[in-house]
Amino acid sequence: MPPATVHLLVVSADPALSARLLTGFEHAAARLAPAAFVIQAVAVSDGDAAMATAVQDGDLHLVLIDHALRSESLTEPAAGVGTVWPAADLAQRLRALRPELSLYILLDDDDDKLAIEGQAGEALSGYFFRSEHDPEGWLRILIAEVAEKCDTPFFDQLLEYVASAKDSWHTPGHAGGDAFKGSAWVADFHGFVGEQMLRADLSVSVPQLDSLLHPVGVIAQAQDLAAEAFGARKTYFATNGTSTSNKVIFQTLLAPGDKLLLDRNCHKSVHHGVILSGARPVYLDSTLNRRWGIFGPVPRATVLAAIAAHPDAKVLILTSCTYDGLRYDLAPIIAAAHAVGIKVIVDEAWYGHARFHPELRPTALECGADYVTQSTHKVLSAFSQASMIHVNDPEFDEHLFRENFNMHASTSPQYTLIASLDVARKQAVMEGYKLLSRSLVHARELREKINATGVFRVLELDDLLTDEVRHDGVRLDPTKLTIAIDASGWDADELREELISRHNIQIEKNTHNTLTLLLTIATTRSKVSRLFDAMLRLAKKKRERRITPQLPEIPGFTRLACLPRDAFYEAGERIALLGDDGRPNPALVDRVCCDQIVPYPPGIPVLVAGQVISTEVLAYLARLLAGQKGIDLHGLATLEGRAHLRVLSEAETRRLQGRDGG
Ligand SMILES: Cc1ncc(COP(=O)(O)O)c(C=O)c1O
Repeated sequence: MPPATVHLLVVSADPALSARLLTGFEHAAARLAPAAFVIQAVAVSDGDAAMATAVQDGDLHLVLIDHALRSESLTEPAAGVGTVWPAADLAQRLRALRPELSLYILLDDDDDKLAIEGQAGEALSGYFFRSEHDPEGWLRILIAEVAEKCDTPFFDQLLEYVASAKDSWHTPGHAGGDAFKGSAWVADFHGFVGEQMLRADLSVSVPQLDSLLHPVGVIAQAQDLAAEAFGARKTYFATNGTSTSNKVIFQTLLAPGDKLLLDRNCHKSVHHGVILSGARPVYLDSTLNRRWGIFGPVPRATVLAAIAAHPDAKVLILTSCTYDGLRYDLAPIIAAAHAVGIKVIVDEAWYGHARFHPELRPTALECGADYVTQSTHKVLSAFSQASMIHVNDPEFDEHLFRENFNMHASTSPQYTLIASLDVARKQAVMEGYKLLSRSLVHARELREKINATGVFRVLELDDLLTDEVRHDGVRLDPTKLTIAIDASGWDADELREELISRHNIQIEKNTHNTLTLLLTIATTRSKVSRLFDAMLRLAKKKRERRITPQLPEIPGFTRLACLPRDAFYEAGERIALLGDDGRPNPALVDRVCCDQIVPYPPGIPVLVAGQVISTEVLAYLARLLAGQKGIDLHGLATLEGRAHLRVLSEAETRRLQGRDGG
């Protein structure tokens, strides 16, 4: 691979200064060139051009702004030059557009520094003094800044350790893959996984690689770089997904009996967190678009009313964006929660890429969230299970968090997952903007092309929203494409099957009348083209038969009879979901569920522990059991081949209702 390119932009209205700087940087770059990247300097003469360059140039990483830009703009803007922005203002705008850019100011004297520090200090990486004119010295500092951003301390150490070929007298038992080599039975696994991956499967017995459970070395450094990149005070790597990350935060923030406001349609891990923490949930009903079978946000009015009604709640948790890409206008909600002292957790499992493109921002952290969980593996390039927990809570209790983190973390984490988080952060910082810009272009093209089939249609924000949230400032992540298929005459299962078996295309998920595709930083033009060709062929095979729309009667929440945790820890009794006649078993109506019953995907519970079972819920579960392919139903017990629900016995119900009525 050729070395990567890093562009350095000089912004000055003084052409002589720009010319001297460019020549100086060019000579210095030839002498200082690092192995990993080449630096190329370019100049523009005003703020508009600088902003345009930042939008267009995905290789831009460094900007040097001449402070004199300000005085010139105030005295006499040169003819033909666009708006000349004050240096501090430009720095702030660049920062708002692309927070990963490193911005430096070229100053005249210390007074200028004080003025600009006051206005834009947070946006800036540093200053140089014009009078010292030292392009080589300055470039040295700029190169060091980029080198720090693209450093991968954990991955580098792992590489070095593996390359040094130490004999393994420790776990794991396969000892760098030696157990597979030469085996007549399992050598194929070695061939499949590969030498490096097996050599890199190390353990906590290797002190050089730090410890995920007590990071003080290369893992701590990698986490610090991630915090900087994602705009958090602290970032923690998690090797058991956002599922575990959510539970860790719940256990840290909530003691048994603490009140919690949560979107009822949060991921199942959040509901598991309710059980583990023993919290008292106040459920907020999110919207459901019945036409497409898609869950949306909780209406803003509902969230604000809940905050007003429960100022004693400790925590509010929301999912933003949702699986289908709907994201809240979080800032006013978070401000209202903070005003009464409620901490806000945002599950950004599907939104880890947002920080790296202005079309996707603001992120939850930028809106003021205290805790954010992200499945770095879902939309960035980390391995499956690799997630991050970001913390901005000013009252963060790190010791308590650590205890809870360590309660859930394996003492043998997979080291390649940690390395993949380190590398995914580097990639997001160094080329996230460029790759996401490409994905967004692909997403627009795909929308147009799929719509042009005249049979399939990509749903827009307006299609996905219901009236309750239409004026809540909800936005759509354009990299998640939901395609309406009902005009095609195919049903969703048939289309999925056709896409995989004939076109080798695996999609993310479907509802009864939609397919959802994810575009990520890895989406390429040829993949887009293959998908479009497939959709076009399928559109041509449009069927005349009319699909009777099976609107999913997703049942609403009933009520809690007791705390979820109390129901979960009772022995309960198991009752068959279907009676002998194959119909929903009436013996379950009005009983209290002990487990959470979750169709997966999307992983949103139909029943939570402690919830009263209604006829509608039963009928829905029975239909799910008989129905849609590709959906697992978590939480059912199978006894003698039949699905059972674990419910409280009559005596347990009476006892718990007396204690804690929900
Ligand atoms: C909203 C939401 N939160 C959390 C998770 C769990 O993430 P992970 O797969 O990283 O454990 C998911 C998974 O689909 C999800 O959709």
